[in-house]
Amino acid sequence: MNARFHRGRRLRKSAALRAVVRETAPLLAQDLIMPYFVDEADARLRREIPSMPGQFRLGLEELEKQVEQAVDAGLHAVLLFGIPHAKDERASSAYAENGIVQQAVRRLRLRWPDLIIITDVCLCEYMSHGHCGILAPDGCVLNDETLPLLARTAVSHAAAGADIVAPSDMMDGRVAAIRAALDDNAFTRLPVMSYAVKYASALYGPFREAADSAPAAGDRKSYQMDPGNAREALREARADLAEGADMLIVKPAGPYSDILRRVREAVDAPLCAYQVSGEYAMIRAAGQKGWIDERAIMLETLLCLKRAGADMIISYFTEELLKQGLAR
Ligand code: PBG
Ligand code: ZN
Repeated sequence: MNARFHRGRRLRKSAALRAVVRETAPLLAQDLIMPYFVDEADARLRREIPSMPGQFRLGLEELEKQVEQAVDAGLHAVLLFGIPHAKDERASSAYAENGIVQQAVRRLRLRWPDLIIITDVCLCEYMSHGHCGILAPDGCVLNDETLPLLARTAVSHAAAGADIVAPSDMMDGRVAAIRAALDDNAFTRLPVMSYAVKYASALYGPFREAADSAPAAGDRKSYQMDPGNAREALREARADLAEGADMLIVKPAGPYSDILRRVREAVDAPLCAYQVSGEYAMIRAAGQKGWIDERAIMLETLLCLKRAGADMIISYFTEELLKQGLAR
């Protein structure tokens, strides 16, 4: 009767005991970053994204209202994506002084001096063909020719008042190009949070509907990473740090949490996990059907990312979790 086997259940006896032996701290408001889609079409636009129930394309005024509620609930960081009214072959709306992201940044900055404003730096939403770089006639996405446009975009976000720029294009050398351009323009103190480890994932589908940024032809496999690769993630992470990145993003998050853990162990920079649109859509859809306990799964998936090594998490559930109450 007095078996000498491991009795793990001793430490699971009560909620109080489980809390003291829990290895991962509970989610805090400051762990979370909320993405927003800002639409240039109309300042009063508020259009729900069909494949992302609960998420909206927001005009400037509506964005401000939405952020106001979230800030009241404890939000401290936003990630902005732009939906411009005009696209072309050189993504000129991405670095226009009065581009939609630049306007949104100025507006939020004026109203909330302490809000952390992160901007996604990419060209796909602004290119008529939907690729993240300049497209050659043969369909190749040109690397080095794209870098100056990314750098220009990042500088324009910084000039508008962004706190952090987050390049998500996966062109080689873009962190170095952006860092140099920021420094040349007196933004030496502005951090770069690079999407260092970004896979060519079908989980971005709902985002592309939301941002109207799907490539018109071809796919992103020549610049985003192959889902079968793990060691390559370490090369990408180290390369971006060597080029001057201050923080790194791993994306998608849940199915790639092994990658998150490996990157966490390989580098010591702050690490962010991005729970992407497809991960959100799957949880939402099953929740709406009543097949899963959505609130519990939101918390569980995000806690698991923290356990895997994320210091910060970008999630479309951020607003909702804050409104339901998280420790600040
Ligand atoms: C822009 C960008 C994308 C996402 C973030 N930045 C789309 C893509 O690479 O196609 C995806 C985010 C999400 O799915 O939530 N390149
Ligand atoms: Zn892109």
